[in-house]
Amino acid sequence: MCGIVAYIGNKQAFPIIISGLKRLEYRGYDSAGIALFNEGVKVYKCKGKVSDLEVHTTGEDVSGTLGIGHTRWATHGEPNDVNAHPHTSQRGYVTLIHNGIIENYGELRRKLERRGYEFKSETDTEVLVNLIEYIYLKGDVSCEIAVRLALSKVIGAFGLAIIFNEDPDLLIGARRGSPLVIGVGNKEYFLASDATPIIEHTNSVIFMNDDDVAVIRRGELTLKTIDNNLLEPEIQTIDLDIEEIEKGGFDHFMLKEIFEQPRSIKDTFRGRLSADLNDIHLGGLYSVLPRLVEAKRIILIGCGTSWHAALLGEYLIEELARIPVEVEYASEFRYRNPVIYPDDVVIAISQSGETADTLAAIKLAKSRGAMVLGICNVVGSSIPRETHAGVYTHAGPEIGVASTKAFTAQVTVLTMIAILLGKHRKTVTNELATTLINELGSIPAKIERILESNSKIEAIARLFKDSTNFLYLGRGYFFPVALEGALKLKEISYIHAEGYPAAEMKHGPIALIDDKMPVVVIAAKDSSYDKVVSNIQEVKARKGIVIAIVSEGDTTIKGMADYTIEIPEVHETMEGLLAVVPLQLLSYHIALMRGCNVDQPRNLAKSVTVE
Ligand code: AGP
Ligand code: GLU
Repeated sequence: MCGIVAYIGNKQAFPIIISGLKRLEYRGYDSAGIALFNEGVKVYKCKGKVSDLEVHTTGEDVSGTLGIGHTRWATHGEPNDVNAHPHTSQRGYVTLIHNGIIENYGELRRKLERRGYEFKSETDTEVLVNLIEYIYLKGDVSCEIAVRLALSKVIGAFGLAIIFNEDPDLLIGARRGSPLVIGVGNKEYFLASDATPIIEHTNSVIFMNDDDVAVIRRGELTLKTIDNNLLEPEIQTIDLDIEEIEKGGFDHFMLKEIFEQPRSIKDTFRGRLSADLNDIHLGGLYSVLPRLVEAKRIILIGCGTSWHAALLGEYLIEELARIPVEVEYASEFRYRNPVIYPDDVVIAISQSGETADTLAAIKLAKSRGAMVLGICNVVGSSIPRETHAGVYTHAGPEIGVASTKAFTAQVTVLTMIAILLGKHRKTVTNELATTLINELGSIPAKIERILESNSKIEAIARLFKDSTNFLYLGRGYFFPVALEGALKLKEISYIHAEGYPAAEMKHGPIALIDDKMPVVVIAAKDSSYDKVVSNIQEVKARKGIVIAIVSEGDTTIKGMADYTIEIPEVHETMEGLLAVVPLQLLSYHIALMRGCNVDQPRNLAKSVTVE
């Protein structure tokens, strides 16, 4: 997720754009840039913060009343000056900024290379700007038509602001899958990723819809679709304050990120999952795939929530690819002189890419000759730079300290890896692969359905906000989810909670059960369902209070548990992706009702860069 700000009007664009980009800093980014129309289009861009861009432009002529500005959250090509936006087409006719992922950029890039285009950056965005120029020149069409024709060939997500070297009076915006808002001023227009950069100038806005194109000439807006259907602009007056807009109208970043999971999971498998081709494309693993497929052992390492994702990964890879997997806390792995064979494959999982223990574990594994891969959410962070290869989660910046969308994105990547390895090792038939790929593709919509239970979950939370202990129980794929649910509650509500394999309860924890102990049992339909039903009966026999996560329509457990929260059915290997969502919401509401700082819990940091 990045930041877009553009301006066309009668004021100087530079200060408006720079202050607008600073308003968008909460969205997270790794580089920044601006293009201004001033006797042609001038571009200034660099790795780093907006303040670095200001230094970079010191002494330059930054006048001009038309401009576009960008803060990048890299997805294709590491953060550096060349990959930063804006990108200008090869012959200089078109300059644009982009938020999103062009899935078919590889195919488009090859076509343009065959037509003489050379690329300076590694980004998918540069492909789009050259495609627009190619069509503009070859088709001898207007800038607007060239944009619409180019976008009709694009697969993927975009929020765009585009300017043209021959036209000082034209700004074009377009969106599909990434947000773009038009600000309507007095003979001036703004484009931005959300309303925060706009509302200090005007509170009249138009929220663009997918496949909308805004053609803005000085003082005149035409809104149409990519297919050239004219639209009636719907101008709204917003009365949100800046902070409310940054949180997308949610009260906290954590809640916003929980609700973002349908989109972040979709972005994580975007361009990687093709049901029709019955295939998985993980470009970051192409160079190491043979060694990964033949691995005798895979060691998954991580910390905290990332370790829980690793544990789920163990179940997935062993079940689907039949490769032995070990899961290690990075902090333990790095100090216990582990046995590491040169033909081991180590996969490090990290949202931030900066966790000191995980980084140290990677270096240890590399020093012993293992191949080390990464699953990370921050392009260009330390861990991806230290590993031999890897896969980025495309969850976008995760601002809440308690990890939510990053966890489900990590598990999505691990699921894709498990299916890919299973296909290559023939431990997953083509038929099963098709089922799994379709099932994974159904996850975002199923999470949308779960999010509709938010108020029911809030009501349950109210009953337990003063509890002093919780037990979370799950079997199979639900055991790592039980651990993750317990961690979520602990770290933001400060209530002690413990995750346990459901069957293990009778080996000790059952002594804890009394009529004050809430026991969250993840009991959706799976191969150990009947066993979990017995575990619920054991808890009830000791007057424990059971909050059960059940499959939609389950009546058996509804008759036993004190409270039930339903989740849709899905293939057993992916039920963990669904079951974690109610637990995220339960912990969020309990913490809120206890007056805790949900986004910045006490004693915690978003990235633990110290040992
Ligand atoms: C998760 O909610 C915590 N914030 C914490 O356990 C986190 O998962 C852990 O510190 C690992 O961070 P990383 O994924 O950035 O490496
Ligand atoms: N995919 C583009 C890139 O990696 C845009 C990323 C963003 O949304 O900032 O440059």
